[in-house]
Amino acid sequence: MKGYIVKDIDLAEGGDKIIEWAGGRMPVLSHIRERYEREKPLEDIKLVACLHVTVETANLVLTLRAGGAEVALTAANPLSTQDDVAAALASAGINTYAFRDETEDEYYNCLTEALKINPHVLLDDGGDTITTVHAAQKTETIMGACEETTTGVIRHHARARDNKLAFPVIAVNDAETKMMFDNRYGTGQSTIHGVMNATNILLAGRVVVVAGYGWCGRGVALRAKGLGSNVIVVEVNPRKALEAVMDGYRVMPMREAAKLGDLFITATGDTSVIRGEHMKLMKEGAILANTGHFNVEINVNDLEELAVQKSEIKENVVEYRMKDGRKLYLLSEGRLVNLAAAYGHPPEVMDMSFADQALCVRYIVENHETLRNEVYPVPRDIDEEVARLKLKSMGVEVEELTEEQKKYLSSWDMGT
Ligand code: ADE
Repeated sequence: MKGYIVKDIDLAEGGDKIIEWAGGRMPVLSHIRERYEREKPLEDIKLVACLHVTVETANLVLTLRAGGAEVALTAANPLSTQDDVAAALASAGINTYAFRDETEDEYYNCLTEALKINPHVLLDDGGDTITTVHAAQKTETIMGACEETTTGVIRHHARARDNKLAFPVIAVNDAETKMMFDNRYGTGQSTIHGVMNATNILLAGRVVVVAGYGWCGRGVALRAKGLGSNVIVVEVNPRKALEAVMDGYRVMPMREAAKLGDLFITATGDTSVIRGEHMKLMKEGAILANTGHFNVEINVNDLEELAVQKSEIKENVVEYRMKDGRKLYLLSEGRLVNLAAAYGHPPEVMDMSFADQALCVRYIVENHETLRNEVYPVPRDIDEEVARLKLKSMGVEVEELTEEQKKYLSSWDMGT
Protein backbone atom coordinates (compact mmCIF):
# COMPACT_ATOMS: atom_id res chain seq x y z
CA MET A 1 0.00 0.00 0.00
CA LYS A 2 1.28 3.47 -0.84
CA GLY A 3 -0.47 6.74 -0.41
CA TYR A 4 -0.98 9.98 1.41
CA ILE A 5 -3.55 12.52 2.49
CA VAL A 6 -1.88 15.89 3.08
CA LYS A 7 -2.94 19.54 2.73
CA ASP A 8 -0.64 20.47 -0.17
CA ILE A 9 2.10 18.24 -1.57
CA ASP A 10 3.82 21.31 -3.09
CA LEU A 11 4.86 22.38 0.43
CA ALA A 12 7.41 19.54 0.44
CA GLU A 13 10.53 21.58 -0.39
CA GLY A 14 10.09 23.89 2.61
CA GLY A 15 9.40 20.85 4.76
CA ASP A 16 12.63 19.12 3.68
CA LYS A 17 14.71 22.11 4.78
CA ILE A 18 13.27 22.34 8.29
CA ILE A 19 13.39 18.56 8.79
CA GLU A 20 17.12 18.69 8.04
CA TRP A 21 17.57 21.73 10.30
CA ALA A 22 15.93 19.89 13.22
CA GLY A 23 17.88 16.71 12.43
CA GLY A 24 21.08 18.69 13.01
CA ARG A 25 19.90 19.25 16.60
CA MET A 26 19.07 15.60 17.23
CA PRO A 27 22.49 13.92 17.52
CA VAL A 28 21.34 10.85 19.48
CA LEU A 29 18.65 10.02 16.95
CA SER A 30 21.12 10.65 14.10
CA HIS A 31 23.55 8.21 15.71
CA ILE A 32 20.80 5.57 15.93
CA ARG A 33 19.80 6.28 12.34
CA GLU A 34 23.34 5.56 11.11
CA ARG A 35 23.41 2.36 13.13
CA TYR A 36 19.98 1.28 11.81
CA GLU A 37 21.09 1.98 8.23
CA ARG A 38 23.93 -0.51 8.70
CA GLU A 39 22.13 -3.15 10.77
CA LYS A 40 18.57 -3.01 9.33
CA PRO A 41 16.94 -4.29 12.54
CA LEU A 42 13.42 -3.47 11.31
CA GLU A 43 13.53 -5.22 7.92
CA ASP A 44 10.01 -6.36 6.86
CA ILE A 45 8.42 -4.62 9.87
CA LYS A 46 5.37 -2.42 9.32
CA LEU A 47 4.75 0.43 11.73
CA VAL A 48 1.86 2.79 12.34
CA ALA A 49 2.99 6.00 14.03
CA CYS A 50 0.22 8.19 15.45
CA LEU A 51 2.34 11.18 16.51
CA HIS A 52 2.28 14.95 16.19
CA VAL A 53 3.51 15.52 12.64
CA THR A 54 6.43 17.84 13.32
CA VAL A 55 10.03 18.16 12.13
CA GLU A 56 11.16 16.05 15.10
CA THR A 57 8.68 13.28 14.28
CA ALA A 58 9.89 13.36 10.67
CA ASN A 59 13.41 12.56 11.87
CA LEU A 60 12.08 9.63 13.91
CA VAL A 61 10.11 8.27 10.95
CA LEU A 62 13.17 8.53 8.68
CA THR A 63 15.24 6.71 11.32
CA LEU A 64 12.71 3.86 11.48
CA ARG A 65 12.69 3.64 7.70
CA ALA A 66 16.49 3.60 7.66
CA GLY A 67 16.18 0.51 9.87
CA GLY A 68 14.16 -1.23 7.16
CA ALA A 69 10.59 -0.54 8.39
CA GLU A 70 7.64 0.54 6.31
CA VAL A 71 5.91 3.38 8.17
CA ALA A 72 2.39 4.81 7.96
CA LEU A 73 2.14 8.13 9.78
CA THR A 74 -1.01 9.79 11.08
CA ALA A 75 -1.53 12.78 13.39
CA ALA A 76 -2.00 12.45 17.14
CA ASN A 77 -4.15 15.59 17.26
CA PRO A 78 -6.34 17.43 14.72
CA LEU A 79 -4.46 20.72 15.24
CA SER A 80 -0.82 19.61 15.59
CA THR A 81 0.26 18.77 12.03
CA GLN A 82 2.84 20.97 10.30
CA ASP A 83 1.60 20.75 6.70
CA ASP A 84 5.00 21.32 5.08
CA VAL A 85 6.46 18.45 7.10
CA ALA A 86 3.59 16.13 6.15
CA ALA A 87 4.11 17.06 2.48
CA ALA A 88 7.86 16.41 2.67
CA LEU A 89 7.32 12.98 4.21
CA ALA A 90 4.67 12.04 1.67
CA SER A 91 7.05 13.12 -1.14
CA ALA A 92 9.76 10.99 0.40
CA GLY A 93 7.47 7.94 0.08
CA ILE A 94 6.24 7.73 3.66
CA ASN A 95 2.52 6.85 3.86
CA THR A 96 1.39 10.10 5.50
CA TYR A 97 -2.22 10.80 6.47
CA ALA A 98 -2.31 14.13 8.28
CA PHE A 99 -3.20 17.77 7.82
CA ARG A 100 -3.74 20.69 10.15
CA ASP A 101 -7.34 21.43 11.17
CA GLU A 102 -8.84 17.99 10.75
CA THR A 103 -12.42 17.46 11.85
CA GLU A 104 -12.91 14.53 14.21
CA ASP A 105 -14.17 12.39 11.29
CA GLU A 106 -11.14 13.32 9.19
CA TYR A 107 -8.84 12.54 12.11
CA TYR A 108 -10.25 9.01 12.48
CA ASN A 109 -10.37 8.55 8.70
CA CYS A 110 -6.61 9.27 8.53
CA LEU A 111 -5.99 6.80 11.35
CA THR A 112 -8.06 4.15 9.55
CA GLU A 113 -6.07 4.71 6.33
CA ALA A 114 -2.78 4.30 8.20
CA LEU A 115 -3.96 1.09 9.86
CA LYS A 116 -4.58 -0.50 6.44
CA ILE A 117 -0.84 -1.22 6.42
CA ASN A 118 -1.59 -4.05 8.95
CA PRO A 119 1.10 -2.97 11.42
CA HIS A 120 3.41 -5.11 13.52
CA VAL A 121 4.24 -2.27 15.91
CA LEU A 122 2.33 0.89 16.91
CA LEU A 123 3.84 4.16 18.08
CA ASP A 124 1.04 5.99 19.85
CA ASP A 125 0.75 9.43 21.44
CA GLY A 126 -2.35 9.65 23.61
CA GLY A 127 -3.68 6.14 23.01
CA ASP A 128 -6.18 6.63 20.18
CA THR A 129 -4.47 4.08 17.92
CA ILE A 130 -4.28 1.41 20.59
CA THR A 131 -7.94 2.05 21.50
CA THR A 132 -8.98 1.93 17.83
CA VAL A 133 -7.31 -1.41 17.05
CA HIS A 134 -8.83 -2.95 20.17
CA ALA A 135 -12.32 -1.62 19.29
CA ALA A 136 -12.00 -2.97 15.74
CA GLN A 137 -10.49 -6.25 17.04
CA LYS A 138 -7.60 -5.80 14.61
CA THR A 139 -4.79 -6.79 16.94
CA GLU A 140 -3.64 -10.12 15.52
CA THR A 141 -0.62 -8.80 13.57
CA ILE A 142 0.57 -6.55 16.41
CA MET A 143 3.74 -7.49 18.32
CA GLY A 144 3.53 -4.50 20.65
CA ALA A 145 3.25 -0.75 20.98
CA CYS A 146 5.12 2.24 22.36
CA GLU A 147 3.27 5.05 24.15
CA GLU A 148 4.67 8.56 24.03
CA THR A 149 2.60 10.48 26.56
CA THR A 150 1.26 10.42 30.14
CA THR A 151 -2.40 10.51 29.07
CA GLY A 152 -1.92 7.42 26.89
CA VAL A 153 0.01 5.52 29.58
CA ILE A 154 -2.87 6.11 32.04
CA ARG A 155 -5.36 4.67 29.50
CA HIS A 156 -3.22 1.59 28.78
CA HIS A 157 -2.70 0.82 32.48
CA ALA A 158 -6.50 0.94 32.94
CA ARG A 159 -6.97 -1.46 29.98
CA ALA A 160 -4.28 -3.81 31.30
CA ARG A 161 -5.87 -3.79 34.78
CA ASP A 162 -9.11 -5.03 33.19
CA ASN A 163 -7.16 -7.73 31.28
CA LYS A 164 -8.23 -6.11 28.02
CA LEU A 165 -4.78 -5.41 26.54
CA ALA A 166 -4.11 -7.60 23.50
CA PHE A 167 -0.35 -6.94 23.19
CA PRO A 168 2.52 -5.51 25.27
CA VAL A 169 2.89 -1.73 25.55
CA ILE A 170 6.11 0.05 26.49
CA ALA A 171 5.52 3.27 28.42
CA VAL A 172 8.17 5.32 26.62
CA ASN A 173 6.76 8.37 28.37
CA ASP A 174 7.99 7.09 31.70
CA ALA A 175 11.66 6.73 30.69
CA GLU A 176 13.77 9.13 32.74
CA THR A 177 15.42 10.43 29.57
CA LYS A 178 11.93 11.26 28.26
CA MET A 179 9.77 12.41 31.13
CA MET A 180 12.28 14.51 33.07
CA PHE A 181 13.41 16.42 29.99
CA ASP A 182 10.70 16.46 27.30
CA ASN A 183 7.81 16.84 29.78
CA ARG A 184 9.61 19.43 31.90
CA TYR A 185 11.81 21.51 29.61
CA GLY A 186 9.94 20.74 26.38
CA THR A 187 6.44 21.43 27.67
CA GLY A 188 7.70 24.31 29.80
CA GLN A 189 9.24 26.22 26.92
CA SER A 190 6.82 25.31 24.14
CA THR A 191 3.69 26.04 26.18
CA ILE A 192 4.89 29.54 26.98
CA HIS A 193 5.87 29.91 23.32
CA GLY A 194 2.33 28.88 22.29
CA VAL A 195 0.69 31.38 24.66
CA MET A 196 3.00 34.16 23.47
CA ASN A 197 2.49 33.35 19.80
CA ALA A 198 -1.27 33.38 20.22
CA THR A 199 -1.55 36.47 22.44
CA ASN A 200 1.76 38.36 22.74
CA ILE A 201 0.83 39.17 26.35
CA LEU A 202 3.50 40.27 28.80
CA LEU A 203 3.98 37.54 31.39
CA ALA A 204 5.94 39.67 33.85
CA GLY A 205 3.70 40.70 36.73
CA ARG A 206 0.81 38.48 35.67
CA VAL A 207 -0.78 35.83 37.85
CA VAL A 208 -0.38 32.50 36.07
CA VAL A 209 -2.34 29.54 37.42
CA VAL A 210 -0.80 26.18 36.54
CA ALA A 211 -3.06 23.16 37.09
CA GLY A 212 -1.06 19.97 37.65
CA TYR A 213 2.43 19.71 39.12
CA GLY A 214 3.73 16.66 37.31
CA TRP A 215 6.82 17.09 35.14
CA CYS A 216 4.84 19.13 32.59
CA GLY A 217 3.30 21.46 35.16
CA ARG A 218 6.66 21.86 36.90
CA GLY A 219 8.18 22.95 33.59
CA VAL A 220 5.42 25.43 32.80
CA ALA A 221 5.53 26.92 36.32
CA LEU A 222 9.33 27.23 36.17
CA ARG A 223 9.34 29.07 32.85
CA ALA A 224 6.43 31.35 33.81
CA LYS A 225 8.24 32.22 37.06
CA GLY A 226 11.43 32.87 35.08
CA LEU A 227 9.55 35.43 32.99
CA GLY A 228 8.38 37.27 36.10
CA SER A 229 4.93 35.81 36.57
CA ASN A 230 3.42 35.25 39.96
CA VAL A 231 2.63 31.54 39.76
CA ILE A 232 -0.15 29.69 41.60
CA VAL A 233 -0.20 25.89 41.46
CA VAL A 234 -3.39 23.82 41.69
CA GLU A 235 -2.67 20.16 42.49
CA VAL A 236 -4.64 17.20 43.92
CA ASN A 237 -1.66 15.08 45.01
CA PRO A 238 -0.42 16.16 48.50
CA ARG A 239 3.22 15.18 47.83
CA LYS A 240 3.35 17.16 44.61
CA ALA A 241 1.47 20.07 46.21
CA LEU A 242 4.07 20.12 49.02
CA GLU A 243 6.86 20.17 46.44
CA ALA A 244 5.18 23.14 44.73
CA VAL A 245 5.03 24.99 48.08
CA MET A 246 8.73 24.32 48.70
CA ASP A 247 9.53 25.41 45.14
CA GLY A 248 8.14 28.79 46.15
CA TYR A 249 4.66 28.79 44.63
CA ARG A 250 1.30 29.55 46.20
CA VAL A 251 -0.85 26.41 46.23
CA MET A 252 -4.66 26.47 46.48
CA PRO A 253 -7.80 24.87 45.06
CA MET A 254 -9.06 26.03 41.66
CA ARG A 255 -12.09 27.72 43.29
CA GLU A 256 -9.66 30.16 44.96
CA ALA A 257 -7.16 30.41 42.10
CA ALA A 258 -10.00 31.11 39.64
CA LYS A 259 -10.54 34.55 41.21
CA LEU A 260 -6.87 35.52 40.93
CA GLY A 261 -5.50 34.26 37.62
CA ASP A 262 -4.75 36.32 34.52
CA LEU A 263 -3.66 33.22 32.61
CA PHE A 264 -4.66 29.61 33.32
CA ILE A 265 -2.69 26.66 31.94
CA THR A 266 -3.88 23.08 32.49
CA ALA A 267 -1.34 20.24 32.49
CA THR A 268 -3.06 17.43 34.39
CA GLY A 269 -4.15 14.67 31.97
CA ASP A 270 -7.57 14.85 33.68
CA THR A 271 -10.97 16.13 32.66
CA SER A 272 -12.94 19.32 33.59
CA VAL A 273 -10.13 20.79 35.65
CA ILE A 274 -11.49 24.22 34.79
CA ARG A 275 -15.29 24.17 34.60
CA GLY A 276 -18.32 26.43 34.79
CA GLU A 277 -18.14 27.03 38.55
CA HIS A 278 -14.60 28.40 38.07
CA MET A 279 -15.37 30.40 34.91
CA LYS A 280 -18.08 32.23 36.85
CA LEU A 281 -15.42 33.49 39.29
CA MET A 282 -12.74 34.56 36.80
CA LYS A 283 -11.52 38.11 36.25
CA GLU A 284 -12.33 40.15 33.17
CA GLY A 285 -9.90 39.25 30.40
CA ALA A 286 -8.68 35.93 31.85
CA ILE A 287 -6.99 33.67 29.30
CA LEU A 288 -7.49 29.90 29.33
CA ALA A 289 -5.01 27.49 27.73
CA ASN A 290 -4.41 23.76 27.94
CA THR A 291 -1.20 21.87 27.35
CA GLY A 292 -2.46 18.36 28.28
CA HIS A 293 -3.00 15.83 25.51
CA PHE A 294 -6.80 15.98 25.19
CA ASN A 295 -9.11 18.97 24.91
CA VAL A 296 -11.08 17.96 28.00
CA GLU A 297 -9.10 19.75 30.73
CA ILE A 298 -10.96 23.01 30.14
CA ASN A 299 -14.68 22.27 29.94
CA VAL A 300 -15.42 24.09 26.70
CA ASN A 301 -19.10 23.05 26.78
CA ASP A 302 -19.48 24.98 30.05
CA LEU A 303 -17.79 27.99 28.48
CA GLU A 304 -20.12 27.81 25.48
CA GLU A 305 -23.17 27.56 27.75
CA LEU A 306 -22.14 30.46 29.97
CA ALA A 307 -21.31 32.75 27.06
CA VAL A 308 -23.82 35.02 25.39
CA GLN A 309 -21.50 35.81 22.50
CA LYS A 310 -18.43 34.20 20.93
CA SER A 311 -16.04 35.63 18.38
CA GLU A 312 -12.65 34.72 16.94
CA ILE A 313 -10.16 37.50 17.65
CA LYS A 314 -7.33 35.93 15.65
CA GLU A 315 -5.99 32.48 14.92
CA ASN A 316 -5.93 30.47 18.18
CA VAL A 317 -7.79 33.13 20.24
CA VAL A 318 -11.57 33.03 20.76
CA GLU A 319 -13.38 35.54 22.95
CA TYR A 320 -16.36 34.42 25.07
CA ARG A 321 -18.53 37.23 26.44
CA MET A 322 -20.34 36.31 29.65
CA LYS A 323 -23.82 37.54 30.68
CA ASP A 324 -22.27 39.97 33.17
CA GLY A 325 -20.11 41.54 30.45
CA ARG A 326 -16.81 39.82 31.40
CA LYS A 327 -14.74 38.48 28.52
CA LEU A 328 -12.79 35.23 28.80
CA TYR A 329 -10.38 34.06 26.10
CA LEU A 330 -9.82 30.45 25.06
CA LEU A 331 -6.64 29.53 23.19
CA SER A 332 -6.53 26.86 20.46
CA GLU A 333 -10.01 25.49 21.24
CA GLY A 334 -8.59 24.11 24.51
CA ARG A 335 -6.31 21.76 22.55
CA LEU A 336 -2.61 21.50 23.39
CA VAL A 337 -1.47 25.07 22.97
CA ASN A 338 2.22 24.20 22.56
CA LEU A 339 1.56 22.31 19.32
CA ALA A 340 -1.49 24.19 18.07
CA ALA A 341 -0.04 27.70 18.50
CA ALA A 342 3.70 26.88 18.42
CA TYR A 343 5.98 24.11 17.18
CA GLY A 344 5.84 21.70 20.14
CA HIS A 345 8.94 20.67 22.04
CA PRO A 346 12.30 21.70 20.61
CA PRO A 347 14.40 19.14 18.73
CA GLU A 348 17.07 18.96 21.46
CA VAL A 349 14.62 17.29 23.87
CA MET A 350 12.67 15.30 21.29
CA ASP A 351 16.09 13.87 20.41
CA MET A 352 15.99 11.83 23.62
CA SER A 353 12.28 10.98 23.53
CA PHE A 354 12.50 9.73 19.98
CA ALA A 355 15.79 7.91 20.57
CA ASP A 356 13.89 6.03 23.30
CA GLN A 357 11.09 5.35 20.79
CA ALA A 358 13.45 4.08 18.07
CA LEU A 359 15.26 1.76 20.50
CA CYS A 360 11.99 0.50 22.05
CA VAL A 361 10.53 -0.39 18.64
CA ARG A 362 13.58 -2.56 18.04
CA TYR A 363 13.24 -4.03 21.53
CA ILE A 364 9.63 -5.06 20.81
CA VAL A 365 10.57 -6.63 17.48
CA GLU A 366 13.38 -8.63 19.10
CA ASN A 367 11.61 -9.57 22.36
CA HIS A 368 7.85 -9.65 21.72
CA GLU A 369 7.63 -13.41 22.06
CA THR A 370 8.68 -13.25 25.70
CA LEU A 371 6.59 -10.21 26.65
CA ARG A 372 3.12 -10.49 28.21
CA ASN A 373 0.12 -8.26 27.44
CA GLU A 374 1.10 -5.68 30.03
CA VAL A 375 2.41 -2.12 30.26
CA TYR A 376 6.21 -2.28 30.61
CA PRO A 377 8.73 0.38 31.62
CA VAL A 378 11.49 1.25 29.18
CA PRO A 379 14.38 -1.20 29.78
CA ARG A 380 16.98 0.42 32.04
CA ASP A 381 19.82 -0.11 29.56
CA ILE A 382 17.93 1.79 26.84
CA ASP A 383 17.33 4.75 29.18
CA GLU A 384 20.99 4.79 30.23
CA GLU A 385 22.26 4.43 26.66
CA VAL A 386 20.19 7.45 25.58
CA ALA A 387 21.56 9.51 28.50
CA ARG A 388 25.13 8.45 27.70
CA LEU A 389 24.77 9.27 24.00
CA LYS A 390 23.22 12.66 24.79
CA LEU A 391 26.03 13.59 27.16
CA LYS A 392 28.62 12.45 24.60
CA SER A 393 27.00 14.60 21.92
CA MET A 394 27.25 17.58 24.30
CA GLY A 395 30.90 16.88 25.05
CA VAL A 396 30.13 16.26 28.70
CA GLU A 397 32.13 13.63 30.55
CA VAL A 398 30.86 12.03 33.74
CA GLU A 399 32.86 11.00 36.79
CA GLU A 400 33.78 7.32 37.22
CA LEU A 401 33.81 5.37 40.47
CA THR A 402 37.20 4.29 41.79
CA GLU A 403 37.63 0.66 42.92
CA GLU A 404 37.62 1.87 46.53
CA GLN A 405 34.31 3.70 45.98
CA LYS A 406 32.71 0.68 44.31
CA LYS A 407 33.74 -1.47 47.28
CA TYR A 408 32.42 1.14 49.74
CA LEU A 409 29.05 1.39 47.98
CA SER A 410 28.57 -2.36 47.89
CA SER A 411 29.56 -2.97 51.51
CA TRP A 412 27.40 -3.00 54.66
CA ASP A 413 29.94 -3.20 57.46
CA MET A 414 31.53 0.28 57.31
CA GLY A 415 30.42 3.05 59.67
CA THR A 416 31.78 5.69 62.03
N1 ADE B 1 5.08 16.39 21.45
C1 ADE B 1 5.42 17.56 21.97
N2 ADE B 1 6.27 18.22 21.15
C2 ADE B 1 6.45 17.44 20.07
C3 ADE B 1 7.20 17.59 18.88
N3 ADE B 1 7.95 18.67 18.65
N4 ADE B 1 7.15 16.59 17.99
C4 ADE B 1 6.39 15.50 18.23
N5 ADE B 1 5.66 15.31 19.33
C5 ADE B 1 5.69 16.28 20.25
